[in-house]
Amino acid sequence: MSNVEVGRAPDRDGKIKRHGPEAFEGMRKAGQLAAEALDMLAKHVEPDVTTEALDDLVLEFALDHGAYPAPLNYRGFPKAICTSVNHVVCHGIPGPKPLREGDILNIDVTLIVDGWHGDTSRMYAVGQISRRAERLVGVTFEALRRGIAAVKPGLTTGHIGAAIQSYAESERCSVVRDFCGHGLGQVFHDRPNILHYGEEGEGVMLEPGMLFTIEPMINLGRPHVKVLPDGWTAVTRDRELSAQFEHTVGVTETGCEVFTHSPNDLDYPLVRQN
Ligand code: MF3
Ligand code: CO
Ligand code: CO
Repeated sequence: MSNVEVGRAPDRDGKIKRHGPEAFEGMRKAGQLAAEALDMLAKHVEPDVTTEALDDLVLEFALDHGAYPAPLNYRGFPKAICTSVNHVVCHGIPGPKPLREGDILNIDVTLIVDGWHGDTSRMYAVGQISRRAERLVGVTFEALRRGIAAVKPGLTTGHIGAAIQSYAESERCSVVRDFCGHGLGQVFHDRPNILHYGEEGEGVMLEPGMLFTIEPMINLGRPHVKVLPDGWTAVTRDRELSAQFEHTVGVTETGCEVFTHSPNDLDYPLVRQN
């Protein structure tokens, strides 16, 4: 996701790209492959697996399918995917630390296919997780669903944020303010910013052909985050759990098309044993 640039005026200048059918075709392909990569990971997420091993799997998957992982070397990011465990909000760097029973983690994959970016992330559970972790993941999934349902020409980016924030807060969770969704297409991070909070009517008017992500980060505790000295890993200041889901969408005449749905019905890859 993009860092919200504090103090920056909202985009009202008409410089947001409106893409045509060829772009939608390209985004469909990139979005589907990114979703397939997340599907592929589901059976590998288990205790004792390292996030580095998951990173290797996605790098291999991408290269095997003629794609390239956009995060690799992006602004100095050292890996192919982001893996954000428990109180890590986003941009966790895959490493040698093994996953443990009860962890929740977000895996964020962005693949470039024929020049187009498909950007998507989901939550995974490592074995049995706590009821409060499961609740947070469920709230975050529903928050993204409501954000997507608010995408319609004539509404604004503020409608998306308001839908997410009002729901998350009604569930006694908080919305991270420091990172947002973003326009994308042939570039990774473009205008507009998609804030996950705000008021209906704020931001920019939604128009057919716009391409962007919605990727709410929702916390069980307070919304505040800090970035660790590695320059990337964002964590909750109160060390409470954080969750995130992300889809890439394109605005249509009547609503939006979601490019990154799982082809295997694994958008919500959490199963509870009891
Ligand atoms: N995929 C992330 C997003 O949703 C961005 C990751 S950039 C990286 O926008 F450099 F941290 F990998
Ligand atoms: Co994104
Ligand atoms: Co992403």
